[in-house]
This record gives sequence, structure tokens and C-alpha cells, in this order.
Amino acid sequence: MSDFSDDWLALRAPADSAARADALVAGLAGLALPADGVLAVTDLGCGTGANLRHLAPLLAAQGFARQRWTCLDHDPALLARLPARTAEWARGRGLGCAEVRAGLRPGAELELGAPAGAGWSADVRTARRDLGDLNGLRLPAGGLVTASALLDLVSAPWLDALLARAWATGSALLFVLSYDGRCELEPDLADDAQVIDLVNRHQRTDKGFGPALGPTAAATAAARCRTLGYQVETAPSDWDIGAEAPELQRALLRGWRDAAAAIAGPDLPAARLDAWLDARLAAVAAGASRLLIGHVDLLALSPAAAEHPAG
Ligand SMILES: C[S@@+](CC[C@H](N)C(=O)[O-])C[C@H]1O[C@@H](n2cnc3c(N)ncnc32)[C@H](O)[C@@H]1O
Repeated sequence: MSDFSDDWLALRAPADSAARADALVAGLAGLALPADGVLAVTDLGCGTGANLRHLAPLLAAQGFARQRWTCLDHDPALLARLPARTAEWARGRGLGCAEVRAGLRPGAELELGAPAGAGWSADVRTARRDLGDLNGLRLPAGGLVTASALLDLVSAPWLDALLARAWATGSALLFVLSYDGRCELEPDLADDAQVIDLVNRHQRTDKGFGPALGPTAAATAAARCRTLGYQVETAPSDWDIGAEAPELQRALLRGWRDAAAAIAGPDLPAARLDAWLDARLAAVAAGASRLLIGHVDLLALSPAAAEHPAG
């Protein structure tokens, strides 16, 4: 169903959390709430809910004491993991998390919240949805549309269609962890540059939304948002992965080898790619490998958001 397994999302989550440009979230503080006082958040490509778990407390800290999350993904296996992963996370932080309704059709519902007196809560609904087709996607007026590690998968026409919908509803946007093509590998080994170049070309192939924006995603989104009239802020959210995360490094390097092999020409045969991978994995085993991987977070605020106070 998906290239994004539960294991892979769990493996990358600590690096994602450490990398995110959380200061951008403060820019949402002035967002006008609807009359019911609930911030509606739509999380596109939610996977097992990492964005929810990272962002909900940050939004609470900005004064959004009541949140209503709609978490959308096309992968039922990932969606099915969201309640348990979120309950486990909530328990670890002394938060409450009650599953109101389980199941995939139309989805699970959770009540997530800080203990009474601590002051915030989130109603969470998951729904299975193929976002390749945006027809019928409803975005609440004046809410927040967010996505984590999704934007580099989508195409320019898809992005334009989403932004047009978001702009029409006065939604703010927070797109985090979009890969931007920068990779610095330590130690410097033969064929690194060629492999990374192939990986970045592979990033532009169709991932289910048309030809993917890949490393150009954040810059393209920033430019198109500004053209619409959004106020845009971006900040780096680079991964800096060293000896503390050998398993994540190994998974990344194997994925890069496979992506490169899928489009490599005769100048970089499989045997050379395998030799490259072996050398890199040896550096990981020796604790000598470090991967710096460029990402960008983007916040876009609609001046119209302030004109949607009643939702
Ligand atoms: C890199 S993962 C990020 C998941 C999650 N946001 C996170 O940060 O852990 C990309 C997510 O997009 C979802 N996705 C990919 N194509 C999709 C589509 N056509 N419709 C809905 N979800 C999709 C995948 O199932 C996966 O959960």
C-alpha cells in the first residue's frame, strides 16, 4: 500500500522532532478562532500521527486550548496505528487519551488532553483518504492545514490545487520537514555526489500525485503562497544524524542505494552502488558516519484568516 511503514515512521520520528523549526509555530498565535473557540487542524498524510503528537502541545502553548484534528492518510495500516501510538505518547507525558470510537470506517476518534486544570484538549478523528484526488476535500474556514514530510512527494499542479482551496477558506498552512536536496555525508567517500544526484532525481519521479516536486517543494510552495497573498516564513529543519542513530542511518543509506539503482545508467552499475553502500555502512558501524540532510519548514498566514472569526 505504501512505502512508508510504521517502523520507518517510528525510526525517523526522533530526528524529525529534533529538526523541526518550532519557532515558526509562534506565528500562528494571532490566528482568529471561530465562535466555538476550537482550532480546526487538518493533517494531510498523517501516517501514524507524528505531526499531531509534536504540534498539538505547541499549539496549546500558543493559546489554542481546544483543538479538533482531522488526520488523513490513504494507508489503513498506518491510520490503525495512530490511536495506540498516540495513547502511548500521551501516557508518557501524563496526558489523557481516550479512544471514543475505534475502527477504520469512517475512522477512529480520540480525545486527547492534558489532565483537568492543565488546560488543553484535542478531539482527533482519523479518516482514510487518497489525497491524490483533492475533489471533495473539505477544509474548515480559518483553520490550519498542516503536513509533515509530505510536500516533497506532491506535484506542482496538486500543490496549486491545495493552495487554492486553502486560500479560499482562509486557512493557515504549516508544512514541515520538506526535503530540499542538500546532503552532506561524513566521511567523504567516492561516488557520494553521484549517488546523491541520482537520489535527488529519483525524488522528482511520480509518488502518486504526478511528477513530484522533490527537493524543490518548499521553495515552490513559498513562491506560490506569496503569489496568492500569504505571508510566508521558512526556516531550516535539517536532520543532523550521527553515531546516536545508526539504525536510521542504515535505513536511509539502503533507501538511497535502491533509489539510485532504480534510475542509474551504465556509468554507475549495481556492483559499484553496492560497494558504495558497503563503504558507507562500514563507516556507520565504526561510529564515524554523519549525515546532514536538508529540510525546510514553512508557515503561511492568510491575512484573510482574521476575517473568518465565525468559521
Ligand atoms: C513521509 S510519510 C509522513 C507521515 C507523517 N506525516 C509523519 O511525519 O510521520 C508520508 C505519508 O503520506 C502518506 N501518503 C502518501 N501518498 C498519499 C496519498 N495519495 N493519499 C494520502 N496519503 C498519502 C503516506 O501513507 C505517509 O503516511
